[in-house]
Amino acid sequence: MCASISGFSKLSKSKKIDWIVETYFFNAKETKNILKQYWNTNEKLQQLHDEFIENTITNYYLPLGVAPNFLINGKFHTIPMAIEESSVVAAASNAAKFWMDRGGFKTKVIATTKIGQVHFMYQGNKETLNQFFKHIKQQLIDDAKPITKNMEKRGGGILDIELRDKTQDIKGYYQLHASFETLDAMGANFINSCLEQFAKTFKTQALAFDGFSEEEKNIQIVMSILSNYVPDCLVRAEVSCKVEALHEDITITAEEFAAKFIQAVHIAEVEPYRAVTHNKGIMNGIDAVVLATGNDFRAVEAGVHAYASRNGRYSSLSHAKVENDVFTFWMEIPLALGTVGGLTGLHPLVKLSLELLQNPTAKELMQIVAVAGLAQNFAALRSLTTTGIQQGHMKMHLMNILNQFEANDAEKLTLIEYFKTNVATHSAVVEAIENLRLKIND
Ligand code: MEV
Repeated sequence: MCASISGFSKLSKSKKIDWIVETYFFNAKETKNILKQYWNTNEKLQQLHDEFIENTITNYYLPLGVAPNFLINGKFHTIPMAIEESSVVAAASNAAKFWMDRGGFKTKVIATTKIGQVHFMYQGNKETLNQFFKHIKQQLIDDAKPITKNMEKRGGGILDIELRDKTQDIKGYYQLHASFETLDAMGANFINSCLEQFAKTFKTQALAFDGFSEEEKNIQIVMSILSNYVPDCLVRAEVSCKVEALHEDITITAEEFAAKFIQAVHIAEVEPYRAVTHNKGIMNGIDAVVLATGNDFRAVEAGVHAYASRNGRYSSLSHAKVENDVFTFWMEIPLALGTVGGLTGLHPLVKLSLELLQNPTAKELMQIVAVAGLAQNFAALRSLTTTGIQQGHMKMHLMNILNQFEANDAEKLTLIEYFKTNVATHSAVVEAIENLRLKIND
């Protein structure tokens, strides 16, 4: 029987589990065992995880893998990736190796500006509002000093605040549209704190502004929040080589491969159905590193997909061309990342991942993450335009199917060997397990 409950968050962890198990599960003992087997025996570490969110009942594991051999601007990196999809780390490693022998990845941070907005309603004279904004702009910045002074010492802070008229879209709707440089912090808390201070100053100073009528003084703040759309926090990643250097497969010439690869990218540029899957492949690489380094993958996802639609049609994030016999494959992508603050100093595996990356600055991390995305896209397109995706996918997925059927070590060894030379579809794997077990039991 399902039920509602009040005061759930105030219950102890074990009482929360009791309620869940009694309300939703038939086998209380088994359910509790499943939850408890993921608790960490190190109580301090468990408490740390319990306190990341409210109502924690257990830990949810994802594998943390590494993809070595990423040559980025002449320096080698081993990239940590937290992801459940079986083929992603293998694909990243393959692409890294492929490009390692062809000059590696070249990257560049184009810009690092982040945006936040105070959305408000004002029904009065526009010119008077403009005058008030000019009058108050410096005070908005000054009143936020207690929040910005440390960031300013390090070279960041508020870059600008604009008054934006959005009355074409909604009657009486305006914004304070502010831009920020948050250096190595993702900056969400910093930006939101600044915005809430702007809103306070704006509202109280409006009440005291002589130029406003009594009605105009009554500005309504709707909300103050950063934007996860960051088209000016942009990084570029690129690979290039002579077309002939692409050669590695006897079934297709280097020229044919380059042409087919570029066609696949062009299709993703013009066809949204394909673009979404194409970009999903890019996000396989991006999210995995974003997650491993304790960054907010939902923010990154939202910003990236908005950027992919910036010209009015959802399109490919990556592009490819051949010019003067040189194949170039590149991507520009918005990434608001942090290497200080948030989970970065808290989660032991995030700290480890950042250390593995030699404690990068946010700018360096942007470049590494973009490379992981481009590499993933390259690997997917390479498979799609040559062997097809299932060959590699099913090879990696084989272990999942074997685990699903609780194959023992000997069975796994036999079947991995068997599927080196046989096509691994789901039904073929199931059939092979059944045949093997029949043979053993004969
Ligand atoms: C699967 O997770 C990702 C791909 O579908 C990406 C693509 O089609 O480009 C293989």
